[in-house]
Amino acid sequence: MRTMRKTFLPFALPSISEEAIEEVAAVLRSGWVTSGPKVKQFEKEFSEFVGTTEAIALNSATAGLHLALEAIGLTENDAVITSSVTFTASAEVICYFGAAPLLTDVDPIHNIMTPKTLSDLIERECHWDGNILTHTVTGKKIRAVIPVHLAGYTCDMEEILKIIDRYNLYVIEDAAHAFPAKHKNKMIGAWGDFTVFSFYATKGITTGEGGMVTTNHREYANRIRLMRLHGINRDAYNRPGWYYEVVDAGFKYNMTDIAAALGIVQLHEANGFWARREEIALRYNSAFADIKGMKLPLPDENGKHSWHLYRVELDPKLAKIGRDTLVEELKERNIGTSLHFIPIFEHPYYKKTYNFNRKNFPNASKMYDMAVSLPLFAGMSDEDVEDVIYAVRELLR
Ligand SMILES: Cc1ncc(COP(=O)(O)O)c(C=O)c1O
Repeated sequence: MRTMRKTFLPFALPSISEEAIEEVAAVLRSGWVTSGPKVKQFEKEFSEFVGTTEAIALNSATAGLHLALEAIGLTENDAVITSSVTFTASAEVICYFGAAPLLTDVDPIHNIMTPKTLSDLIERECHWDGNILTHTVTGKKIRAVIPVHLAGYTCDMEEILKIIDRYNLYVIEDAAHAFPAKHKNKMIGAWGDFTVFSFYATKGITTGEGGMVTTNHREYANRIRLMRLHGINRDAYNRPGWYYEVVDAGFKYNMTDIAAALGIVQLHEANGFWARREEIALRYNSAFADIKGMKLPLPDENGKHSWHLYRVELDPKLAKIGRDTLVEELKERNIGTSLHFIPIFEHPYYKKTYNFNRKNFPNASKMYDMAVSLPLFAGMSDEDVEDVIYAVRELLR
């Protein structure tokens, strides 16, 4: 008989090794703490890891999504398609430009954008004149699609890219959850025009706060490099003298060497973190296999799941207790959970500004009442894992 946990188990925690702490300390002692050699090294190693020619380090994934849209010259006359089940960052960056965010529904299993949900939206709300894809309601021109690899399960990039090509669009993958992940045999990061990773505290690897854009387009990469630091044509580390030129009104989105030093060590540890996450996810899957009304996350049959999150869904008709009760009861037992995500169209800002029709999102709406993310992070001990299993089985069996 297990007793209740004495300490609270959060749903996610970063794993910071002594080596990482030493590397960060070395930067702190070095006298160069902002963007410099560590950022360059992190970018180089990251691009090699995912297999792209370019990687640009930033202070968040949100900055990366913003600068990718800036690089393609998004304007207020444009619209961008993303998934209804994502964090606000994937949609808010579209609004920065006064452009319209359009949302696809998701599939009922993995809650991601699929070629079908994307095509459904295009057929329902857009007009193709053979050259330009227009949103019929707003008259705006569709420029890009932002698929989201939710929880680390990969979207069907091969088919989505066919749709992108058919309508002359850009694809900017939100891979905040997808490191390290593969679709088919290719790393996420090497598929689309741009891929954007997050190194937020709970992600596959962390720099505290941070992000990376990968691309094979040299020109766009250079535009992002320019705009991440005020539109200044030389970064401080490479500036030989006092002279520099501001060539555009840029942003302050650069990553620090303090963060990059942590990122480099985390990158070296990434495969180990991933292996532990997968081990825990598969242990959960076998321990929960006989629970009625609980849908479990499946391994990615088309690639490599990053196992960023362990999301389950409770069917209110079949499960012994509802999702909200499970969350409360687990909290009572010192086990943290989270929800990924409240659909974009449910948030007051998006509701009042864009007038989304809930009827167009049957799967996202259903998911919202049933999903919950259980603790999953590389630093979980076997005891932590067994505590979660015991509590969940006690409540749902
Ligand atoms: C799906 C998704 N996209 C984008 C982001 C934004 O990442 P960042 O916090 O690095 O800006 C997050 C962060 O949680 C996310 O979950």
